[in-house]
Amino acid sequence: MKIFLDTANIEHIREAASLGVVDGVTTNPTLISREEGEFEDIVRQICEIVDGPVSAEVVSLDCAGMVEEAKKLVQIHENVVIKIPMTREGVKALKELSELGIRTNCTLIFSSNQALLAAKAGATFVSPFIGRLDDAGQTGMDVVREIMDMYENYAFETEVIVASARHPQHVVESALAGADIITLPFSVFDKLFKHPFTDRGIDSFLADWEKVKNR
Ligand code: E4P
Repeated sequence: MKIFLDTANIEHIREAASLGVVDGVTTNPTLISREEGEFEDIVRQICEIVDGPVSAEVVSLDCAGMVEEAKKLVQIHENVVIKIPMTREGVKALKELSELGIRTNCTLIFSSNQALLAAKAGATFVSPFIGRLDDAGQTGMDVVREIMDMYENYAFETEVIVASARHPQHVVESALAGADIITLPFSVFDKLFKHPFTDRGIDSFLADWEKVKNR
């Protein structure tokens, strides 16, 4: 399973990318609003750090506006993937952009039927928001499992990015569901490395090594 970072914070992206296990980045207008600087500059910087898909979201609500924005955003860098919201107009835009050879990530997916439509329209990626579903009392991961089954039944090439991840168990469940990708806030990514027994084990090995190192 690929791991993307769900942030526009350059320091976090640089730090995580230096570990060699980051395959891409997703941003959205909220994540961009938390950082200093101009949207296109931030996206460019991210693309220069991570050699993989970097999602940048359109804000138009009509198909023509989305396509126009997409054409500009892809000029920033070859890594840019266009995030399109799951609406009727969005589905039309997905189709047009796929015919133009522009890669897309259909965002704000909350049901498997929405994911089916996005795949039929030629989306490169779909992003089911599992944490927000969990927050609303529905099991988000059930939707991911349904999408994986549907896509397998019909051999869709659209890849599933598990989005709105909140904790490490979401990573385990995504991998067990066979999701292609999970996108993680830096805080969740950081937690994947940690286990108290690992820290305790290192402390005791080093303490024991002190006893033998001068023999
Ligand atoms: C996905 O690409 C989105 O940026 C993201 O995962 C949204 O998650 P949130 O529910 O934490 O805002």
